[in-house]
Amino acid sequence: MAKGRFITLEGGEGGGKSTQARLLAEWLGTRGLATLVTREPGGTPLAEAVRGLLLGAAGGEHADAMTQALLFSAARRDHVMRLIRPALEAGIWVISDRYADSTRAYQGAGGELDSSIVQRLEEWVTAEAKPDLTLILDLPEAEGLRRANERHAAANVGARDRFETEDPAFHLRLRMMFLRIANSEPQRCALIDAQPAVEVVAEAIRATVSQRLGL
Ligand code: TYD
Repeated sequence: MAKGRFITLEGGEGGGKSTQARLLAEWLGTRGLATLVTREPGGTPLAEAVRGLLLGAAGGEHADAMTQALLFSAARRDHVMRLIRPALEAGIWVISDRYADSTRAYQGAGGELDSSIVQRLEEWVTAEAKPDLTLILDLPEAEGLRRANERHAAANVGARDRFETEDPAFHLRLRMMFLRIANSEPQRCALIDAQPAVEVVAEAIRATVSQRLGL
């Protein structure tokens, strides 16, 4: 059986990654492909528990960037070994809402963690699951923050995790890093303008997936 393909969605806050992951899976389904939508941090019970540590009351969001990178990486490793790799081997197309580029951006660029540490961790953790395609949803950082705030207000969520409330300079560093990743790895990555309406972005994603992955 042919192996599944691995597609990751990346970008700052408020770019609509989760919605686009779902729409992409629906469309792949209409092409007769088996799909799995997953997210980071998370995707397995252990990784979801680590997500709770990072984004919940334990205060992982206040830990230093190295601690955060280790926790995100531990969650990622479990996700790779117990969910992503087995699914790909079973012929399932896996779509992950965030993956290793988020650590490069948030802990590396945002948290100013040494890039050689980020790189080593990524090599160890992701050797068994390299994305075939990474869609980087790009949005001016102020617009992304505005959308994320709106989403939280609508969901009536009290405290936001720190990753979303960091100062504008942090979000600018994130965006610059995502743009840099897109430029430096054009074979793997495609930059998608996340500003237009959801359906327009979804169409751009379908066109990119068709072209890059030969559908
Ligand atoms: P989530 O609520 O899923 O945010 P979003 O909807 O923006 O994806 O929370 C995940 C948060 O964790 C998000 O702010 C980005 C951050 N994060 C990192 O800092 N490093 C990582 O490696 C990953 C995967 C996420």
